[in-house]
Amino acid sequence: MRSVDELIADGVSGRRVLLRADLNVPLDKDSGAITDDGRIRASLPTLQALQAAGARVVVAAHLGRPKGAPDPRFSLAPVAARLGEMLGAPVILAGDVAGTDATAKVAGLADGEVLLLENVRFEAAETSKDDAERGELADRLAALADFYVDDAFGAVHRKHASVYDVALRLPHAAGRLVARELEVLTRLTESPERPYVVVLGGSKVSDKLGVIEALLPKVDRLLIGGGMTYTFLAARGLEVGSSLLEADQVETCKRLLAEAGDRIVLPVDVVVTPEFSADVPTRVLPATGIPADEMSLDIGPKSVELFTEALTGAHTVFWNGPMGVFELAPFQGGTRGVAQAVGAVEGLSVVGGGDSAASVRQLGLDEGAYGHISTGGGASLEYLEGRELPGLAVLAD
Ligand code: 3PG
Repeated sequence: MRSVDELIADGVSGRRVLLRADLNVPLDKDSGAITDDGRIRASLPTLQALQAAGARVVVAAHLGRPKGAPDPRFSLAPVAARLGEMLGAPVILAGDVAGTDATAKVAGLADGEVLLLENVRFEAAETSKDDAERGELADRLAALADFYVDDAFGAVHRKHASVYDVALRLPHAAGRLVARELEVLTRLTESPERPYVVVLGGSKVSDKLGVIEALLPKVDRLLIGGGMTYTFLAARGLEVGSSLLEADQVETCKRLLAEAGDRIVLPVDVVVTPEFSADVPTRVLPATGIPADEMSLDIGPKSVELFTEALTGAHTVFWNGPMGVFELAPFQGGTRGVAQAVGAVEGLSVVGGGDSAASVRQLGLDEGAYGHISTGGGASLEYLEGRELPGLAVLAD
């Protein structure tokens, strides 16, 4: 894989570089303000290196999941503004993805200037399953640049026009963020120092099944929290009330529990409530005692202790997914406790992905305590699962 630094060494001054970045940041539902700008910050090293080398930088990015047509709620305007603040110079925003406005604005770029294309998902072709449709958009994107650099680690698992097809059309290189993410993930897959402990949260077992199956033979302990806990508890024959449950995954969980023996560790207590709300009373109960008419929205303090014990002394830790509904204050304790325990690990600690990374920052924890905070949730899980990621495969080509 050619690196962006090799590309720069060969000379990019005055040349147009299309930089795919993952600027998919969470926005406040009401105000539309950016609530966590971690991904924008993580994109800066490559962007600034290209600028400093005199490239004319054309950034392509997505935001949310608009339905393949322009939608002001998903405009990259707030991202352009924040990026401009961080770079200390205005970032020009194109009014389209690769249409007449983008073309005109690219033509007007000076060396070292940055243009952000509008949300690539405003074009239905970006995410199309049809190669020809994606190819037509990729042709238009490729016409905007001389080189392509992919630094959007969080999107490398997507076979999308701006991630995959455009790389087939331009001389390409991997950005610094992609290189750093790969260096860390390779340590996890190829040579994890033991004990190796993985903490997985998140709501659906079905989403995590592939990674659980791939990790079980490799880890010393797999700690399970978050919404998928309750399907595992149900597999143990326990009542889970109205907690999140994937009934069609109970049998799979039974099999996983039988195969894993004591390597899978489940919460021993939970925080229950009659309603999904921050304003109703909560109770901490043993995981064996969830009332039929209540739901659990977090793991309890004894579980945090149990997980902390498993994490203490681990030499390699990967954590993905919150332990509960951490956006609501009464259900933050599990995620906070686990995040602190992961941060205290002396070996390599990796926080995988969007939600977990955001939770570290939103809970006000020290980012410096972690070995690496990945910008890719789905991407890092698919990497650990051993799947081929289209955006990386095409760069290696
Ligand atoms: C993410 O948020 O994980 C990446 O930006 C990819 O977004 P997506 O899941 O909408 O493709």
